[in-house]
Amino acid sequence: MRKIHPVEDLARDARFQRIDIQERVNDARSPDNSRRGRIKVRLTPDRTEASDGARSLMHGIFVGEVQALEGAGRTCWDFDTGTGEDEAPFELKLDMARQCWDEARHCEISVKLGEWMGTAIGEFSETTFLYAAACNPDPVLRLTGVNRALEGLAIDVFNTMREFGQLAGDPILEFCEDWMLADEVTHVKMGSDWLRRLTADDPGRRARALEFQKVVDKLFSLGGFRGEEDDSPIQLARRFRELAGFAEEEIDEISALSSEARDEVEARRQAATA
Ligand SMILES: [Fe+2]
Ligand SMILES: [Fe+2]
Repeated sequence: MRKIHPVEDLARDARFQRIDIQERVNDARSPDNSRRGRIKVRLTPDRTEASDGARSLMHGIFVGEVQALEGAGRTCWDFDTGTGEDEAPFELKLDMARQCWDEARHCEISVKLGEWMGTAIGEFSETTFLYAAACNPDPVLRLTGVNRALEGLAIDVFNTMREFGQLAGDPILEFCEDWMLADEVTHVKMGSDWLRRLTADDPGRRARALEFQKVVDKLFSLGGFRGEEDDSPIQLARRFRELAGFAEEEIDEISALSSEARDEVEARRQAATA
């Protein structure tokens, strides 16, 4: 079996609709491109588009779970066991194997929860950025890009969806999100712990890994979609991020990156309207 499995070759059946992230970002139906003004607000059950919004978000979570499983599995396989820069220690592989088990369970929960919410596999599209970040040739960069940046985002998304389930009076949604959130905190913590362990004597490698995390974080602040403003659709989950090994300054930095991304989108929108 080959090492580093390319993103184009991921196995999917005919139900999955894969699109490019660029296509998704430039979709004329999205609020940012509609020129109708910024209509991003927090997803609450009283909004008319709440059900569709929640289903779309849940489908996004589901395809993310599939790719998180694939990415963690690849990290067990793609590297020889060892402590070199192009190797992965046995204990790290054990953590990734545990993560595979969690993500496989999350895939099953997500499919069933999606059905409960009234949607099915393929009703929304799949973009493969999570798996793409899991193809980095340095295992530490995989851990900062996937476990810290993207699964950090998953913490924010699960927490927001959990609160949405509470508000909507839907205990199935609330508890499913709560269980998956608990696992994600563990996965992000693995990323934080391994980053510190593997780069303890290599400040250059740590800097590269944190830079990769920053690039992914900014990209997936999704134009301010995730942030700490009252109307940010996805709220930055400070407490859970602390539990996952983020220092307060790191959380402040993500918050600042999100505001930056939000201002950039707003400036582009105003320029387009003018
Ligand atoms: Fe997961
Ligand atoms: Fe995860």
